[in-house]
Amino acid sequence: MKIRVFDSARSAGLYAASLMEAVILREDNPVLGLATGGTVLPCYQAFRGLVWCGLDLSRTTTINLDEYIGLDAQHPQSYHYFMEHNLFAGLPSRPRAVHIPDGTAGDLERECARYDDLIHRNPIDFQLLGIGTNGHIGFNEPSHSLLSRTHVVSLTEETIASNARFFERVEDVPRRALTMGVQSILQARQIVLMAFGRAKADVVARAVQGEVRTDLPATMLQLHRDVTFILDVDSASALPREVWGGHAVLSDASDGPEPGPLLSRS
Ligand code: GLP
Repeated sequence: MKIRVFDSARSAGLYAASLMEAVILREDNPVLGLATGGTVLPCYQAFRGLVWCGLDLSRTTTINLDEYIGLDAQHPQSYHYFMEHNLFAGLPSRPRAVHIPDGTAGDLERECARYDDLIHRNPIDFQLLGIGTNGHIGFNEPSHSLLSRTHVVSLTEETIASNARFFERVEDVPRRALTMGVQSILQARQIVLMAFGRAKADVVARAVQGEVRTDLPATMLQLHRDVTFILDVDSASALPREVWGGHAVLSDASDGPEPGPLLSRS
């Protein structure tokens, strides 16, 4: 597991976007597993900049982790809407296919099977993740057991409360979602988890160093051979410094309004 700690969410977002770019440049038919949530926004903002600078998405397929049940693509809090408005809107180049689970499907079991088949036919090269304060990845909530494949999940009270900030009232937060399963996430060739802020510090420390447990799904990432945690100083604050592997806090040295060069791309 690699840990990279940045002095700002913007620097961290640039780094994550540059990893996505590297996959797109390397693969003939790149498949990106994408996430939603406030944490990935700096990554998507930087990634949009790369596309505006000429990065070609026309060979790329994207597969999102999850979607609320009952929200259609036009609903401002649906993950369909999130992806369109925060990543794809207005870009000069679009992925050849964008996949997000359909939370309005009449037959949800069938929709889960369709999604698993899609993942099977398009093995994920790069999986981007956020993390819930309770340690969920995608919408794989803490439980006495975890499901490997795409499934319907009942959201925990903690997740509902935490995601209520995006809705007018807590009662408006859907109680159920469709999510990719843990095995599908772990089958991605490369995984990058982003987390910012002090509220995520404890869960990040447990995900990196704690026992591997189903009641903290992010600990499953310890079983994968190519995982990078991209953190800011606050979300890394509960990790002992030696766990960073002696790395300094990384910065894009941005005093001015323009992003400076970040890191060597080699
Ligand atoms: C939602 C998503 C998760 C995401 C989490 C974190 O619950 N289903 O995939 O990791 O939010 O959200 P945020 O980045 O806003 O803290």
